[in-house]
Amino acid sequence: MKQKTVFLCNECGYESPKWYGKCPSCGAWNSMDEFKEAKAAAAPRGVLPKTERKRNRPLEIGKIETNEETRFRTGISELDRVLGGGAVHGSFVLVGGEPGIGKSTLLLQMCQEMSRQAKILYVSGEESLRQIRLRADRLHISSPELFVLAETDLEEILAETELLLPDVLIVDSIQTIYKSDLNSAPGNTTQIKECAMTLMQYAKRHNVTIFIVGHVNKEGTLAGPKILEHMVDCVLYFEGEKQVSFRCLRAAKNRFGSTNEIGVFEMSDCGLVEVPNPSAAMLSGHPTDASGNCIACTMEGSRPILAEIQALVTKTAYGTPRRMSAGVDYNRMVLLLAILEKRVGLYLSSSDAYINVIGGMRLDEPAIDLPIALAVASSYRDQPLPEGVMSFGEVGLTGELRAVTAVSQRIHEAIRLGFTTCIMPKQDIGRMEIPKTFRIVQTENIAQAIGAAF
Ligand code: TYD
Ligand code: MG
Repeated sequence: MKQKTVFLCNECGYESPKWYGKCPSCGAWNSMDEFKEAKAAAAPRGVLPKTERKRNRPLEIGKIETNEETRFRTGISELDRVLGGGAVHGSFVLVGGEPGIGKSTLLLQMCQEMSRQAKILYVSGEESLRQIRLRADRLHISSPELFVLAETDLEEILAETELLLPDVLIVDSIQTIYKSDLNSAPGNTTQIKECAMTLMQYAKRHNVTIFIVGHVNKEGTLAGPKILEHMVDCVLYFEGEKQVSFRCLRAAKNRFGSTNEIGVFEMSDCGLVEVPNPSAAMLSGHPTDASGNCIACTMEGSRPILAEIQALVTKTAYGTPRRMSAGVDYNRMVLLLAILEKRVGLYLSSSDAYINVIGGMRLDEPAIDLPIALAVASSYRDQPLPEGVMSFGEVGLTGELRAVTAVSQRIHEAIRLGFTTCIMPKQDIGRMEIPKTFRIVQTENIAQAIGAAF
């Protein structure tokens, strides 16, 4: 067979017969990698005679047989939630994250409960058997149905898999394994694509659930081609700040469930611990009498989470004011500062402003606009918000407050955690029971909201 050389973009998967310094499709620089494809024997042109055609006929949609997909419980309820109720048999799941965030720990911990229902093969290309054993001991993991292999050659891995016939195969990580018939180094685009393809075919043919670990590069995308994301059934990202112990597991793609759910974990001495009540965890240690902080309620999938947003506004010493944001979008923050200046009259253009979300969470929802604005106003005036106040609401460019979704869930969560006042946009809150001690303050614009808060 003749080999055909193509060039593939690491970022978007764009394929071209020649090399470019800049990808013509996504514009990334120096992202094209050489890829050798085996060329199939040329097929005869035109439509094949009827007898030679493969019998793969279109079917009427109603006549397709579906057997309800069966799932394993992973034993980690936060992980089950993100997977959409457990791992589907024969699915191919990619767990991505920065090195050291806890991917190997999460998968090893998952083995403990899963090995009660299934035979598991954990293949590591990164750690020795001894290292894995030591980690397992620390996590109190041991099971006669859990097998470990330290190997990087994919053919060897699959040969062992065929001997052992596990129900679940874990490959840690896709960047370290290689196919010996390709002449490129492990971690290279060609290797990653081919190895993932082989594993995917194996998963579908033998109905084995495969988890692969993928490292993320510093831009936050999976190292290796985007193609990896197209191939797998689920892409889970494990994220968080390394210095902060909270870790968030998010589904970026899920063929068997929603992509809105998140799982929250905390890294402890004995591995990852689930955080079933993230709001309480995020708020622990929250100061009640300091200026510059406001509690926001954000929706993560179907779950409301309360998080503390802090702002620090100080006079600019010289030159242009500094702005910095952690956990919220920088441009959104700059926009809110401009709105506060123009619509409320806070002189922020001569102040430095810093925004931070406590606990290393990243909040992406428009409903956090109002709490950010309140935190900034509180720091600007050096006056704390009264105790028990929380808020949510989107802020428009004219300073008006816009309605948000899932109001009743947010209010319930605030009541559950003992808050007494909610500052929010004017919108229908439906029929819900609110205790007499809980006050809902609905305001039309940001100036009114600030007026109501202090
Ligand atoms: P690891 O799962 O090896 O990360 P990854 O596979 O994503 O590269 O996790 C590594 C970090 O987790 C390491 O810095 C140590 C920490 N850790 C704990 O704090 N407690 C534990 O019980 C374990 C196993 C790891
Ligand atoms: Mg690891």
